[in-house]
Amino acid sequence: MNDPNGMVYDHGEYHLFYQYNPHGNKWGPMHWGHAISRDLLYWESLPIALFPDRLGAIFSGSAVADPANSAGFGSRANPALVAMYTYHDQRRQDLGQTGYESQGLAYSLDRGRSWATYSGNPVLANPAGRDFRDPKVFWHAPTGRWLVVLAAGDHVAFYSSRDLRHWSHESDFGSEHGAHDGVWECPDLISMPIEGTSRSRYVLLVSIGKGGPNGGSATQYFVGDFDGHRFTADAVRRAPPASAVRWLDYGTDDYAGSTWSGGKAGDTRRLFIGWMSNWQYAADVPTQGWRSAMTLPRELRLVDADGGPELRSRPVAELAALRRSAAVLGRRIVSAPLGLTRAAHTHGGLLELDLDLDIAAATGCELLFANARGEHTTFRINAAKRRFELDRSASGAVDFSPKFTALQSAPWAGGSRRLRLRIYLDQSSIEVFVNDGETVLTALVFPATPYDSVVLRGSGTFVLNAATVYELGSIWR
Ligand code: FRU
Repeated sequence: MNDPNGMVYDHGEYHLFYQYNPHGNKWGPMHWGHAISRDLLYWESLPIALFPDRLGAIFSGSAVADPANSAGFGSRANPALVAMYTYHDQRRQDLGQTGYESQGLAYSLDRGRSWATYSGNPVLANPAGRDFRDPKVFWHAPTGRWLVVLAAGDHVAFYSSRDLRHWSHESDFGSEHGAHDGVWECPDLISMPIEGTSRSRYVLLVSIGKGGPNGGSATQYFVGDFDGHRFTADAVRRAPPASAVRWLDYGTDDYAGSTWSGGKAGDTRRLFIGWMSNWQYAADVPTQGWRSAMTLPRELRLVDADGGPELRSRPVAELAALRRSAAVLGRRIVSAPLGLTRAAHTHGGLLELDLDLDIAAATGCELLFANARGEHTTFRINAAKRRFELDRSASGAVDFSPKFTALQSAPWAGGSRRLRLRIYLDQSSIEVFVNDGETVLTALVFPATPYDSVVLRGSGTFVLNAATVYELGSIWR
């Protein structure tokens, strides 16, 4: 599997579709796999929702509920779920033709259990173009229309529609903005309040297949305005240096993510999930019985910062329900390596660590995740460089890709020396959230056995204000 697709909330269920090749464990003819959850924690696999047809394989896209029956697929009494996705015609691409990507619709009248493709497909084509994919549909209330943003090579394009079937081009954005080492993919446009203010901005997420901050695939974002026709970035720069690009996640393994359409009554959160891999090595990771997973679901927030509003992401609050036993440590000065785990807390290698650190007197400190074989992953706070580093060079199986062992690094924003870390450790991943999502690093790891020891150590004395280590329950039952 790869990208998450068609995330929509409907009748108490979070739908999560995904790019899926049922014929093998490498990328191939894409289908939409399907899972549902009531709580974002426990997922039930449903049958494949969309199969390749005469127009092509089913690439990424989105889904919405259509309560007013604007597309006419259902009725007001039984509104349709409508998916808009990309048809990718591999044969035409192999023949060197253009126009091999177009958008199609499918709908469900039974809460996503079965899907019919629209007989009028494709609904949106670009005969002259090559990359023209990954439509994200949303309702634009101020103009009372459907809008779609999709990726068209080095930019995104906006189209509008009253019925989801007929689309008119509105505008393009991005050929002179942001990172361009890879082709643009999987955009999303979200209106977000700036936390603690009465103002709001639009956030445009754009994934790029290569050229991420630590190599390969990554997701950048732009903050700006959208008037129903055109997106305008707040800080317009021509060909900005790489440092001016804003990244949703600095880790190597959070790609092609987007947000859920709709949510529980009264829940205004913007819920996000990403694909936890990287095109640099996605087809080669040493897994058996599975190939790829999603990140933890996250809540996106927009927070005022010195350089303008910034996007933050934190793990969803629902995850607290997985906490089992907790080990709580009070304030102490750390001058020698401090073990944060007891054997009882590491069964299965599923942990959440919440740390509050003050490293004023130290040149840095690190968290070492290790197993009895000596395989280890290190999360380092490099105070001298004011960077966070994730080192997985000795994390376990690493020889499947020369790209896998590169040191990952992310900026430490702000001037404070106090740091709050929230880290989720799973058997094959680590997800680090610094200062409530100010900086995020998500990375895969493949130790032979789960890491069952976590040690905090520094190159000088530093203060641990508080720490809680939770053993987490498994989501498999
Ligand atoms: C992103 C992507 C999308 C495309 C899909 C194909 O990872 O390349 O642009 O729709 O994967 O599987």
